[in-house]
Amino acid sequence: MKSSDCSRRKLLQYLAGSPLLAGLDNLPLIAAERLDDRDYIAESAEWAVNVFDMENVALKNLSQAHWTYVSQGVDDELTLRANRAGYERLHLRARRLVDVSTISKQTELLGHTLASPIIMAPVGGLGMAHTNGEIEAALGARNTGHKMILSTAATFGIEDVTAARGEPVWYQLYATNIWEITQGILRRVEASGSDVLFLTTDIPDRNQDRMRRFDQNSDACTDCHIPGTTFADRTMLQGLNAPRNISSQNMAMDWAWLRRLRDSTDMKIVIKGITHPEDARLALSAGVDAIHVSNHGGRADESGFATIDSLPEVVDVVRGRIPVIMDGGIRRGMDVLKALALGANAVCIGRPYIWGLAAFGQEGVSKVLQILDHELEVAMRQAGTPSLADITRDTVR
Ligand code: GLV
Repeated sequence: MKSSDCSRRKLLQYLAGSPLLAGLDNLPLIAAERLDDRDYIAESAEWAVNVFDMENVALKNLSQAHWTYVSQGVDDELTLRANRAGYERLHLRARRLVDVSTISKQTELLGHTLASPIIMAPVGGLGMAHTNGEIEAALGARNTGHKMILSTAATFGIEDVTAARGEPVWYQLYATNIWEITQGILRRVEASGSDVLFLTTDIPDRNQDRMRRFDQNSDACTDCHIPGTTFADRTMLQGLNAPRNISSQNMAMDWAWLRRLRDSTDMKIVIKGITHPEDARLALSAGVDAIHVSNHGGRADESGFATIDSLPEVVDVVRGRIPVIMDGGIRRGMDVLKALALGANAVCIGRPYIWGLAAFGQEGVSKVLQILDHELEVAMRQAGTPSLADITRDTVR
C-alpha cells in the first residue's frame, strides 16, 4: 500500500469516528480528501477538485526556475495580486425561481461557435511544463473542445500543434522589431489555417525581479531554454533568417504600425493588452475585430489595477460593436461569470492550465478546463442565468 493510500485510510477512519461528521458515512472519498489541508497532492488528474489542487502538484513537479517563471509578476507583484483581489469585491445578485435545469455556455466569437467562453491563453515555452509542451496542451484542449491560442514563443511549431488540436489554433503575435520577420511568421500562421491573430501590445518592457535571481542557464532544461539560444531560435522563427539579436518586442509599435498590420493580413485581429478606454476607442478606429482586456497576467506593467476593473471602462467604449475578451486571475467559474457580467464575451485562462499540464500532461489540462466549465455551470445556476445572454451587469454588484 502506498503511503498516501495509508494516510487516506487513516483520515477516513478518523472521520468515521468524528461527531462532526456523524451521518456522513457515505462521504465520497474525494470530498474526504478535501477536508485535508492545502498540502493536498492529487495522485491523478481526476483527484483534483479545483485548479488550486493542480497548482499544488505543479509546484511539486516543476523546477524552481520554471515555477518562478510561471508564477512571477513584475516589481512587487501588485498587479498580480490585484487581478485576483478584483473578483472578491464583486458580489453575485442571484435571481430565484428561474428554470436552470438546462445550462448553455455556447457562444459565437469571431466567426466560430464555442461550446464554452473559456479559452486557453497564449503561453510561451510550454516545454518548461511538459516535454511535449504545446502539443500536449492541444491534446488536452481537443478532449474538451476548447479554443487554444498559440504563442509566438511556443516550444513547438503551429503545424504540429494544429495537428494535435485537430483544427486550426488561434495565434498570438509578438510584433518583433523587424517587419519582414513578423510578416514571415504571419505567412506561416496563415498557411496553417489559423484565422484569428492576437497582437500583444502590453510588454514594451518589464521588470521581473524574481526571474532575474536565476541564471537561466543554470537549470539544465533542453526542452525550453537551451543555453546560448535567443528569440531567433524559437520554433516559429525557423527558416526566416532572423538575426541573433532580434527582439520579440517592438518598442516603436504604434497605431500606424497596427494599421499596417491590418492591411497585411486577412486574419481577424484581436488587440491584446488594452486596459485604457481611450485605447479601446483608438483600437475601434484602427479596425480591429476584437479587444482583449489584459495586463498579461500581472506580468507587464505594475499598474496595481485589476483587469476586472479595467473591463467595464473598455466595454462602455465598445458598446457591443466588437467582442471584448478578458483575462487576469481567473481561478473559479464564478470569476468567469463576473467577467461575463461586466461585459466580456469570453475569457482566457493561463496559469491554471499550465498547472494542469505540469501536473498530469493532457489529462491535467483537460481536467482544469472541465473544472472551470463545471464551476461556471454551477455559478450560472446560482445566478439564475441559464444562458450566457442572461448574464448582465445586473448579475453582479
Ligand atoms: C510571456 O508572455 C511572459 O509573460 O513571460
